[in-house]
Amino acid sequence: MAASGGMPSDIPDVINVGLMGLGVVGTGVATHLLDRGSSLADVAGRSVNLKKVLVRDPALPRDIKLPSGVMTTNAEDILSDPDIHIVVEVMGGTDPAEGYLRQGLAAGKHVVTANKEVMAKSGSELLALARQNDASLLFEASVGGGIPIVGCLMNELAANDIRSIRSIINGTTNYILTRMAHQRTSFQQALGEAQELGYAEADPTNDVEGIDAAYKLTILASLAYRRPFQHADVFCEGISKLEPQDFRYAQELGYSIKFLAIANLEDGAVQLRVYPAFVPAEHMLAKVDGVYNAVEVDGSLCGQVLFHGMGAGREPTTSAVVGDLIEVIRSIGSHATQPGAQDGRSPGNGVDLAVRPIGDLQARYYIRLDVVDHPGVLAQIAQVLGDGQISIAAVLQRDTHPETESAEIVITTHPANEASMQNALKAMAGLDQVRRVSNMIRIEE
Ligand code: NAP
Ligand code: HSE
Repeated sequence: MAASGGMPSDIPDVINVGLMGLGVVGTGVATHLLDRGSSLADVAGRSVNLKKVLVRDPALPRDIKLPSGVMTTNAEDILSDPDIHIVVEVMGGTDPAEGYLRQGLAAGKHVVTANKEVMAKSGSELLALARQNDASLLFEASVGGGIPIVGCLMNELAANDIRSIRSIINGTTNYILTRMAHQRTSFQQALGEAQELGYAEADPTNDVEGIDAAYKLTILASLAYRRPFQHADVFCEGISKLEPQDFRYAQELGYSIKFLAIANLEDGAVQLRVYPAFVPAEHMLAKVDGVYNAVEVDGSLCGQVLFHGMGAGREPTTSAVVGDLIEVIRSIGSHATQPGAQDGRSPGNGVDLAVRPIGDLQARYYIRLDVVDHPGVLAQIAQVLGDGQISIAAVLQRDTHPETESAEIVITTHPANEASMQNALKAMAGLDQVRRVSNMIRIEE
């Protein structure tokens, strides 16, 4: 068989895999390779042998029993073994994972990774390294769990100019928001459940504060707009400021609250933003519940296409990782597929696109204020909004507390400029009669 880059010139019928990580995802991948080896061979065209599995602590109880001699704590057992053809990295984090990926690619090994952090921070460098070494680097599992969105942006949708991506790409937060909206569960309880189910990142702050979604949006936008974006290009607000009242008002006003990751191209600039938003209750994204993710792509040829599926968890992520593995195995020796060269990040017509700052956003807003229940308060607030050219669409006053002379006011606006809104929020917070600007949530129509 023909050689492919650093692969041995005589490619064996059995492909050896080194798996780095045996946690939620790694256990799913190892189980599939061990239990379904023969059917995998039918699909991939060659048999797969799980030669080594890297862990940190071999004494930990596991949901899987590996054949004797397979588990190791020494990464060199994988990276320096010339008989290991493919490295599957499902460890997470950047250090030492990124170094291992670099070492594997430099040795000409093909790499499959689920690591969104590494791909968001160093994806273009790693893809260049893969190309230099005639190796493949695939990362379908890094975004959307079991949803095949990465490959579709690279291949099936590649003919399109992408106008926008609107997505729910963090399973943990969608699970939390769904539980808070429908079961009135507390934030902490819902987070605990998501952790038990294996959806959350090692540090759930990454999920809750939108860092994980921002990594994933960076990857999707880099593929869609064919230029490398940085994680820092994404404006990001998490879900921890949401309170039960926000869900109540959202329902009353005909919306759901969803944690959206949005990329859109307008006038030659791309805006990238992650935040909780009001979504009309009848919109398809509003109906995406639990650990499900959804990605809506608006392309110049395909129009709006919606991908929907399980965005986290052992089995869905295993589907994406093993799918990549099959693609790599099929390509070995043929040169028919070099996914590393089809990453969409090569300099192309997207390279000049600027990043649009969040202050330029035009959106509708929901504002919730805790005010002193006195005559003239609403007029003062209306004056602040009017000074910022922000037009009020509706006002609600619900929870009044005569004993403390306080009231809760909810305002929705017509489309307004984000920078003006931020100035207005500061001005409102400075009014004597406003006790607290409790929340501001953008409305995505
Ligand atoms: P996890 O459950 O925390 O598992 C991590 C595994 O990596 C563990 O087996 C751990 O070893 C091993 N490991 C970590 N650091 C190591 C080191 N320095 N040396 C050797 N082994 C090390 O993580 P996970 O949830 O499976 O996630 C893995 C990757 O997949 C991450 O990049 C994550 O973002 C991504 N991902 C996860 C999901 C999901 O639903 N969980 C979905 C999509 C993508 P020990 O077992 O010995 O501790
Ligand atoms: N923590 C991530 C999530 C895992 O909840 O979506 C999948 O990437």
